[in-house]
Amino acid sequence: MSGSCSFETERLICRSFRYSDAEDMLRNWASDPDIQTEYGEPVYSSISQVRELLREYTSGEKSRYRWAVIEKASGENIGQIAFCKIWDEIHTAEIEYCIGKRFWGRGYAGEALSALILYTFENTDIVRLEAYHRAENIKSGRVLEKSEMHKTDTVQRFVREGITPRGEVCYCIEKNKIMKGAVSMGELHIIDHPLVQHKISLLRDKNTGTKEFRELVSEIAMFICYEATRDLPLKEIEMETPLAVAKTKIISGRKLAFIPILRAGLGMIEGVTTLVPAAKIGHIGIFRDPDTKEPIKYYSKLPEDISERDAIIVDPMLATGNSAVAAITELKSLGVKHIKFMCIICSPEGVEAIRSAHPDVEIYAGVMDQGLNEDQYIIPGVGDAGDRIFGTK
Ligand code: URA
Repeated sequence: MSGSCSFETERLICRSFRYSDAEDMLRNWASDPDIQTEYGEPVYSSISQVRELLREYTSGEKSRYRWAVIEKASGENIGQIAFCKIWDEIHTAEIEYCIGKRFWGRGYAGEALSALILYTFENTDIVRLEAYHRAENIKSGRVLEKSEMHKTDTVQRFVREGITPRGEVCYCIEKNKIMKGAVSMGELHIIDHPLVQHKISLLRDKNTGTKEFRELVSEIAMFICYEATRDLPLKEIEMETPLAVAKTKIISGRKLAFIPILRAGLGMIEGVTTLVPAAKIGHIGIFRDPDTKEPIKYYSKLPEDISERDAIIVDPMLATGNSAVAAITELKSLGVKHIKFMCIICSPEGVEAIRSAHPDVEIYAGVMDQGLNEDQYIIPGVGDAGDRIFGTK
C-alpha cells in the first residue's frame, strides 16, 4: 500500500497528488493560515510555491503515504490526509489531515479518516494508528472520536522525543479493535507520570551509586506496577464501619504471580510486592549463548499453581527482547493465560520482538529509548542494570 493506491468513500476519492491539484490546493487550504498552522505547515501564497510542494508530494518519501482528498461532486481537491510518521518496527503510524474551511461541517474529515483507518488495517501490517490535536481544537477531537479513535496518554512521537503532552490530546486506534479475527495486539503502556520520569533520570546518572540505584529501581517498579494492576477485578462486599454498613470493593478472583528474569529483575521485586504483598514470586534465569546468541533457560522455579495465576514478568531493561520472549514462552507452555511484561526502559527492538512473538502480551514501561548499540545495550539507557543494582562492577 502507498499513496499511489486510491480508496473511495461515498462522497470522496482519496488518491495520490497530481500537479493539476495546485490551483485547488492554493484556493481551498494551502494558503489558509488557520489550516496550515494547525498542523505545523507553512502557508503558501503562490501557485509556484504549491507546485514546489507538489514536487515533494508526488515523489520521494512525503508521497509514500499521502492522499489528496477529492470531493466527488465538484471534482475539487478539498484537503489531504497522510501518515506524517511511520515506525515500521512497531507497526505504528501517525495520521494528519486537513480539509479546506469551505468544506467544513459536512463530515468530510471523518469520512476520509474512517476510510483510511479501514484501508490501512486491511492492506498493511500497521496495527496501530495515532493522532493528536491541540486542546483548543475541539472539532478535531470530535472527528477522531467519530472515527472510533480513543484517547490515549501519549503517542509515539512524544515518547520518542521524550515529551509529555501538555496542550495536546492524543488518540489511537488498534487493528484488533475494529477488525474481527485480527490478532489482538497487546498495548504498549508508557507510564509517563512525572515522578517516574524524574526517577528514571536519576537512574541514568552514571554517578548514582548502588544503594540509590537499587532504591530507585524498586520505587519505579512500584509506580509502574500500580498501572499494570489497574485492571484487577473487583467485587462488591459489605463492610461495617464504626458508623454504618458500607458497600465497598475488594480485589477478587484472579491471583497474581510476579516473575523476575534473573538477575536484574530481582531489583524490582521489593517495589511490586509492596503493592501486592499476597502475590507469589517465580524465578526464570536466561542467558545468551555467546556463540549462537540464542537465549538459554538455565533456571525456572515457578509457583505450583502458576497456570491459575496472572503473571507479570519483571525485568528493568527490555533490550533485544530475547529473554522476555523466552520467559513468556516458558509461562505459556505451563498454561499461563494472562501475561504482562513490566520494565523500566524499553527499546523499540525489544517491543517489536515481544509483539511479533507474543502479540497478546501487554508491555508496561517507564520510557522507550532510542535503540540498541552493537553490544545490545539500550542507548542512552542506564548501562548494565544488573551490575548497578548489585554493585558487581
Ligand atoms: N541489560 C541491561 O542491563 N542494560 C541494557 O542496556 C540492556 C540490557
